[in-house]
Amino acid sequence: MRLPIEGFSKLSKDEKIRWIAERYTQDPEASISLIKTYWNDDRKLQQLHDEFIENTLTNYYLPLGIAPNFLIDGETYAIPMAIEESSVVAAASKAAKFWFSRGGFKTTVLGTEKIGQVHFMYRGDKEILQEFFTAIKPKFFDETTAITKNMVARGGGIKSVELRDKTEELEDYFQLHCTFDTLDAMGANFINSCLEQFAKTLRKEASQSQILPNGEESIEVVMSILSNYVPKCLVRAEVSCPIDDLGAASGISAMEFAEKMVRAVAIANVEPHRAVTHNKGIMNGIDAVVLATGNDFRAVEAGIHAYAARQGSYQSLTQARIENGNFHFWIEIPLALGTVGGLTSLHPLVKLALEILQHPNAKQLMGIVAVAGLAQNFAAVQSLVTTGIQQGHMKMHLLNILNQLKASDTEKKQLVEYFKKHSATHHAVVEALDQLRGS
Ligand code: MEV
Repeated sequence: MRLPIEGFSKLSKDEKIRWIAERYTQDPEASISLIKTYWNDDRKLQQLHDEFIENTLTNYYLPLGIAPNFLIDGETYAIPMAIEESSVVAAASKAAKFWFSRGGFKTTVLGTEKIGQVHFMYRGDKEILQEFFTAIKPKFFDETTAITKNMVARGGGIKSVELRDKTEELEDYFQLHCTFDTLDAMGANFINSCLEQFAKTLRKEASQSQILPNGEESIEVVMSILSNYVPKCLVRAEVSCPIDDLGAASGISAMEFAEKMVRAVAIANVEPHRAVTHNKGIMNGIDAVVLATGNDFRAVEAGIHAYAARQGSYQSLTQARIENGNFHFWIEIPLALGTVGGLTSLHPLVKLALEILQHPNAKQLMGIVAVAGLAQNFAAVQSLVTTGIQQGHMKMHLLNILNQLKASDTEKKQLVEYFKKHSATHHAVVEALDQLRGS
């Protein structure tokens, strides 16, 4: 067993690299050289990245691609996507192009409410707690003015502070359930700072209270933290067109295609195994834009999946309907995003991504991200109910296989040409390369 290390964070970057390479890799010199290959020559840029997190050794690249031709609310967008999976960007681009000539995507922000909670335990008379809360409620607003001043000046701030009795779920458990409007900021730091001040106010007021019989002892604050479940920070994106405009594809009529799309979504609504994969495809689009625009994809993921399970079973995030000869396809998802603060003004590629998106505000970005998810799902389900996913996917994955097989540039060129007319399985690619080399 390797011994633990004390004070790793205090080592210099070079010392950390040597330490890890010598203890955990087979060929330390090769590992060190690999780590350094990914350093940026621009020292300032490298330092910026080093300082995003702790114990940084090097950079971890993801490709940044572009899906052009998105018509969203009458504007044409090219959407930046940071993702490692082949065929996602191609699928998004294909769906964008398809819907461009059919009216494009429409988005509606249904709400922007963010949530945070102070979780605490109280052992005593509930009515007395309510009386105490009502008496001190204005103090929650007064004692956070230093934190909220700028946000309030811009039109946001704390929207509500509510006492919630959760004792049916857990003995003695209560909350301050608080809502916020953080405008164009994701707002995590703002919300958490407000909540920690609420907790201080709660403790202080309890200690001075004439109402609570046991003063400070009455209330035990457990924690104060924002919630990444924001069902009222909600956006809808949709497409629709007359069924005839869908066009015949892959040997099936427009009507058959529309019906299959509706059935595929219906299956994802009743079958969680399918719903998870269906939604995973949606997240391919969502995460890629969330990441490219410097937002917190873990928060988005957690919130969206909780939303998908809000009815008590895990269901599809998209819906489809045929009505009066029209095909309708839409998504509704909670998204807490920022276009100011955080990485948005720090990471040069995030700044570029936001510039490419024409400097959206948070609401516009919510719409763009939802569209990316909807487009991704349309493309995936379209393939699934017609040709199957592998045909397109393997074509896009071909270069990865060829790179794995260490094909030269000339070999790659020849085989990409060859597989335009042949179906690309891993086995077929190995055989074709062998043959090429043999010849
Ligand atoms: C692959 O990354 C995503 C899909 O599995 C999504 C789906 O099945 O809907 C193709």
